Amino acid sequence: MGKLDGKTGIVTGAGRNIGEAIAHAFARDGARVGVIDLDQALASKVAQDINQEHPDAALPIVADVSSSADVQRMVSEVAERFGGIDILVNNVAITDHKNILDLEEDEWDRVMRVSLKSQFLCAKYVAERMVDQGRGGRIINMASTSGHMGRPEATAYTAAKAAILNLTRSEAIQLAPYGIRVNSVTPNQIGTPVGLDYVPESRKVKNLVGRPGKPRRHRGRRPVPGVRRRRFHDCVRCPCGWWRACWRFCILEPRSIALGSCPRFITAPSRCS
Ligand SMILES: NC(=O)c1ccc[n+]([C@@H]2O[C@H](COP(=O)([O-])OP(=O)(O)OC[C@H]3O[C@@H](n4cnc5c(N)ncnc54)[C@H](O)[C@@H]3O)[C@@H](O)[C@H]2O)c1
Repeated sequence: MGKLDGKTGIVTGAGRNIGEAIAHAFARDGARVGVIDLDQALASKVAQDINQEHPDAALPIVADVSSSADVQRMVSEVAERFGGIDILVNNVAITDHKNILDLEEDEWDRVMRVSLKSQFLCAKYVAERMVDQGRGGRIINMASTSGHMGRPEATAYTAAKAAILNLTRSEAIQLAPYGIRVNSVTPNQIGTPVGLDYVPESRKVKNLVGRPGKPRRHRGRRPVPGVRRRRFHDCVRCPCGWWRACWRFCILEPRSIALGSCPRFITAPSRCS
């Protein structure tokens, strides 16, 4: 028995890295999953890998999640194929690598459309479906540590990620009466950087444990019966006691994906202890 038996999830940007790992984790836990990506080859490959291990669990769909028409088609296709939608993971993002002086308006618009508006569109049309179904649901919005603090080399991305935090709060309040729970997850430097399928040598690691996390496609050691698995792996606690950083992307236990580094620690380390 998987903890997601009988559920259907949608994972956007599931073609690689974090989204790919989440799609695999859903299937492993018993869910059927819509594998959504702009890149057809990536979506098909991930769905094929999942279906090899879990027959008919994955449906690849090519869609641009910043397009309302594509999002509505994608929602209908998943719901018709699997009989409804229970979970949405709003995972797609793209980034800029510009400061305010260098960033042009068209790139600002593109990053906002793909990283922020896409989360609104997917949540809106999936939530409408969930309300009609009358069986509640879960929406998970992928944020970033970049949304909690400023960065020298990204402008639109950091603004989009900060907006996602408050969009999540509003959605959570508005959808609670329908039994739809909305949360955000804040990863920090997991696998390859956003928009890349390799890790540049120049990538600096700026978190409390000093190394990047890995998206995990496969369960490692099986838990020993009778022994509770540690909920957090390689966890460090900020000396201020207010914020915790879990460094492996613990996809198997969604509640523990509360990753992050302490903004207070980073901005005012002397006041943390
Ligand atoms: N990787 C990290 O270190 C990191 C850190 C903090 C936050 N995050 C967040 O985690 C999420 C996933 O990041 P990632 O690094 O795995 O991303 P990624 O760039 O590796 O993968 C994103 C996927 O989305 C797809 N995609 C891009 N635009 C799309 C569109 N318009 N429609 C549909 N699909 C589209 C791409 O083809 C790609 O397969 C993002 O929201 C990101 O902001 C990642």
